[in-house]
Amino acid sequence: MKTIIEKNIWSISSFLHNNNYNFNKEEILKNLPENFIDEAIHYISGWESYSPTPLLRLNKLKNELGYKEIYYKDEDKRFKLRSFKALGGAFAVNKIANNKKDVIVATATAGNHGRSVAWGAQRLGLKCKIFISEFVSESRAEAMKKLNAEVIRVKGNYNSSLKECIKQSNKNNWEIVQDVSWEGYKDVPKLIMSGYTIMVKEILDQVNNDEITHVFLQAGVGGLAAAMIAGFAKFSNKKIPKFIIVEPENAGCVFKSIENNRPTTVEIKKETIMGGMSCGDVSTVAWDILKNSANNCLTIPDDAISMTVAMLSKGQLSEEKIIAGECAVPGIIALISLFKNKDYSNKLDLNANSKILLFGCEGLTDNEMYKKLLEEGLSKI
Ligand SMILES: Cc1ncc(COP(=O)(O)O)c(C=O)c1O
Repeated sequence: MKTIIEKNIWSISSFLHNNNYNFNKEEILKNLPENFIDEAIHYISGWESYSPTPLLRLNKLKNELGYKEIYYKDEDKRFKLRSFKALGGAFAVNKIANNKKDVIVATATAGNHGRSVAWGAQRLGLKCKIFISEFVSESRAEAMKKLNAEVIRVKGNYNSSLKECIKQSNKNNWEIVQDVSWEGYKDVPKLIMSGYTIMVKEILDQVNNDEITHVFLQAGVGGLAAAMIAGFAKFSNKKIPKFIIVEPENAGCVFKSIENNRPTTVEIKKETIMGGMSCGDVSTVAWDILKNSANNCLTIPDDAISMTVAMLSKGQLSEEKIIAGECAVPGIIALISLFKNKDYSNKLDLNANSKILLFGCEGLTDNEMYKKLLEEGLSKI
């Protein structure tokens, strides 16, 4: 049997150093204010079903790569929604509703964010309208309908669904609860990102004062990545780790924006299977944080996704078997690919002292897709 790294499927499409890197805690926390973060954490940790998700160790992978630690935050265990997105949308719905019962909330989504908004609305007995593109699977749509949301399918991609959501919401006076920000729409995305930061608080408790050296952060619109960086800015009392942004090669909007030093739209010519990360525009709040605090950006092709999902399911990278969705594995793929490229790993100071953090940001969120990925991946391992 070939070892993990001997397989010739690991690759990076493009790699970039951020020439404008200048980590500044105060600046970051101006963009995602500490009182937002405090309130979100207070609120979410008070929810009845709340408990921290596990921080696993990918020890089999670690032994093969020779790094000191590889931590994996397992968001498959996040409430019954099985992704970190559960933390953001549902919290924002609470804040926006502000105890009113006649509010109608609306959002556009690739799936996980919409489920969070629908869940938040259901708990408060509010009506909820969810806009999805033609690329969102029926099993994701079903999951949102089960939470009593009305699901509206829109022709075209994620951007088309967002445009339609904004148009109909403005016409009908619905409250948009969106995880992406643009000029004039920043407060709600800030609430949502504040909800995500509870993960950093949990992780820093779980590593028990250990110093993390590298953090791999998946990006769609960049909300998750920027929120995690803000979480480190607020809660870490150690040396700030290197933050490496990972995107699909077909949707590298953070990569392009960092490269051009301004928000840059990427035209999505081919949809990636990492649906939650198929975004052509960086969120403005996220951009204001990422532009000076991401150390590096890289993009990956879809090729290794199914195999990595299968390896995790069989316990080939860790002692335990892990259920990981398509957006949960890019960090692993990036890490192994970097290991195989000595020039890049030297640039990132990846070595025997490295303690790496990866985000397994979704688990079983799409039954159909998971089955398909497993079938394909198992045939490759
Ligand atoms: C599972 C998962 N991972 C990552 C992302 C990307 O997050 P963001 O769009 O905040 O960058 C998403 C977005 O929907 C997601 O659902």
